[in-house]
Amino acid sequence: MNSFIYDIPVKVCFGENQLQHLGKELNRFGKRILLTYGGGSIKKTGLYDKVITELNNSGLEIFELSGIEPNPRIDSVRKGAQMCKDHKIDVLLAVGGGSTIDATKFMAAGACVDFDPWNFLNEQWAPIEKALPIVTILTLSATGSEMDCGGVISNPETNDKIGRMAPPMLPKVSFLDPTNTFTVSPYQTACGSSDILSHIIEVYFNMSTDLYMLDCFMEGLMKTVIKYTPIAMKEPDNYEARANLMWTSSWAINGFIDGGKTQAWSCHPMEHELSAFYDITHGLGLAILTPRWMEYCLNEKTVSKYVQFGVNVFGISPNQEPMTIAKQAITAFSDFLFKTLGLKNNLTSLNIDNTHFETMAEKSVKLGGLKYAFIPLDKNDVMRIFEMCLL
Ligand code: NZQ
Ligand code: ZN
Repeated sequence: MNSFIYDIPVKVCFGENQLQHLGKELNRFGKRILLTYGGGSIKKTGLYDKVITELNNSGLEIFELSGIEPNPRIDSVRKGAQMCKDHKIDVLLAVGGGSTIDATKFMAAGACVDFDPWNFLNEQWAPIEKALPIVTILTLSATGSEMDCGGVISNPETNDKIGRMAPPMLPKVSFLDPTNTFTVSPYQTACGSSDILSHIIEVYFNMSTDLYMLDCFMEGLMKTVIKYTPIAMKEPDNYEARANLMWTSSWAINGFIDGGKTQAWSCHPMEHELSAFYDITHGLGLAILTPRWMEYCLNEKTVSKYVQFGVNVFGISPNQEPMTIAKQAITAFSDFLFKTLGLKNNLTSLNIDNTHFETMAEKSVKLGGLKYAFIPLDKNDVMRIFEMCLL
């Protein structure tokens, strides 16, 4: 195991009825709040009214920014950063899924600088040294944005979707109430779980052999997603299922499972290009890519990892040839995504063809550092994987 510093100072208020602490937590940072949310699901579910009541009862002054898009746009970030400056905001309260939380992180950072926040993400890579405090209320279990310091922002003008991590953007407090996810559709639940699984797989598939404790932990997280996602899809208000998925989404990406590993992720950089060019749901893109990437990377050197995955996560019999187990593991994983969760299983069914594959492959390799991945990938490898996703 590498040396590492583990420092994830996010205060988590988990479970029902935690919203009673919202006013007190926000008041630690100031009185002027920018409340951010997406396309309106929080109004339909009644969460908006509950939040407003808490804020009013706590003597807070509320400013609002709504309409943050899935695959959030830089224009929303610009608007929010400007509002923070105009209204001298003390703290941002993001209520929603990963898109709302991600955009809010960059608003909080953008509020502290005089330049366009896109400069945090474009080739200028401006330093993120400060951000206003961020509090989140999570409504969708998927990205882990509630407990990490990263965010991913789209710029439709340039067909870019770019992610960045920076410690000042780590939420100060996150409210994780599983009942706020009861209204998430079966489709978004499936996509969210595909994303959670990918966050674990991106770390789990590595060539180190000394991460036993972390491997066991990751296998537990993956088994949790596999057990509870179909239940949450069939019984949306099953608290046990929603609670297990919610806490797993946070732990999949809060830094704990990394164990100091520096290996680049593989499928995320490729998926961000799919979302950048075709605005598809992140978890769906990952579902289509990941089994193909697994097939592409399987060889005599890597096979033992697939065996471990198949035997420990899917319960495949260990008494077979390693290659046989590995192939069965990929099939079991694909069946889970496409048969059990019912996700579409190829790009053609999403009306995506190979028109942009070359540019997308180039950008995945450049932005994602794929030469440092589990199996180093160059532009041609990535193009081949995109092509495998067509059918
Ligand atoms: O916008 P509203 O009306 O709220 O509706 C949303 C949206 O349409 C809806 N929704 C959310 N909570 C709901 C709900 N509908 C009913 N009931 C609820 N309780 O679901 C739709 C999708 O929401 P979104 O926030 O886009 O989904 P998700 O949480 O999956 O976030 C995806 C974004 O996060 C990025 C992705 O790339 C993508 O842009 N990621 C962020 C990461 C991070 N910060 O670390 C890591 C991830 O790998 C990922 O890249
Ligand atoms: Zn993801």
